[in-house]
Amino acid sequence: MPYTVPKLEDFSPAALDQAVQDLLSAVRQEASAVSGENDAREFRDRWMARKNGILTQASGWLKTAPADAKRAVGQRFDEIKTRVEATVEATQQRLQGGSAAAALESERVDVTLPGIRRPLGAEHPVIRTLNETVAVFRAMGYSVAEGPEVETDYYNFEALNFPPNHPARDTQDTLVIADQDNKPLRDRLLLRTHTSPVQIRTMEQIRPPVRIVCPGKVHRRDATDASHSPVFHQIEGLAVDTNITFSDLKGTLDHAMKALFGSSVKTRFFPSFFPFTEPSADVAISCIICGGKGCRTCKQTGWVELMGCGMVDPNVFGFVKDHGYDPARISGFAFGMGVERLAMMKYGIDDIQMLFQGDVRFLEQFA
Ligand code: DAH
Repeated sequence: MPYTVPKLEDFSPAALDQAVQDLLSAVRQEASAVSGENDAREFRDRWMARKNGILTQASGWLKTAPADAKRAVGQRFDEIKTRVEATVEATQQRLQGGSAAAALESERVDVTLPGIRRPLGAEHPVIRTLNETVAVFRAMGYSVAEGPEVETDYYNFEALNFPPNHPARDTQDTLVIADQDNKPLRDRLLLRTHTSPVQIRTMEQIRPPVRIVCPGKVHRRDATDASHSPVFHQIEGLAVDTNITFSDLKGTLDHAMKALFGSSVKTRFFPSFFPFTEPSADVAISCIICGGKGCRTCKQTGWVELMGCGMVDPNVFGFVKDHGYDPARISGFAFGMGVERLAMMKYGIDDIQMLFQGDVRFLEQFA
């Protein structure tokens, strides 16, 4: 039964004492049952509300007390008031203490949780393909050589047996550096159109035998479409020794393509032309999308062209004769492949632009 303030008829010290004790034990009991903020507010209002709280009701005792008891009732009422106020205050404190503990609890940090992972960067599919291809040749004993992207006409063309005004230069869609007209043609700067100039630069530095691959960026004045980009990557290869034959070239490239695309892939060599190789060939692999049956990627032919190659033209050795490359004593093969092409075949990408747009949704698939 909730406590109610009794109407006092008997104001004897004993009866007054009993009434005070009842009230105080009620407030203590109710205080101990308070458990939430809402409870606490109700508790406070029930006991201390100005209008009809229990204290206000109990103050009615003062009015009804006979004159000779008023003083004693007044004293006891003050005592009640102080005790009730203290109890309400203490209850509030207890709850606040409790909610501080609750706040601590809710803000608890579990230091053993793994935390927020930063996404790690990953190799771009072009760079990954480039590295994988280089690794295939390294395993065959090739070393890696590099050359500049801003190249001279001499290394990009002349020493590769493209004479001045030779029509084969037109096939390279060259981007040239401005204001070079006052220099001799061979010294004029351009953006290299292929990695082949590294062949010459390497042979100037290293006497035969050489086996090198040269990965890098190349540039051409090409309009952008699904298979062209003005900046792309190539990997050049060069092997020079006594007795290098076309069979060595075929065996090497067939092995490399099987290492990159799986042992069931076939290679096919067919005649082509490059000024710096004689004979020259283009190399196609059996289409890995359709397995050679014919599909959109291979334009229904079952074959996809991936690179150019050939036996180093003796005229090229002529440019590095003084460095130990006597075409009468040595021979060699060379090849050059487009890395984007390899990556597109490897991962079934049908638009070269995907490789350069930097769309994380695309790139994440390679992480
Ligand atoms: N440099 C040629 C190109 O970009 C590719 C090439 C063909 C490289 C034949 C070679 C080669 O080393 O022997 O089109």
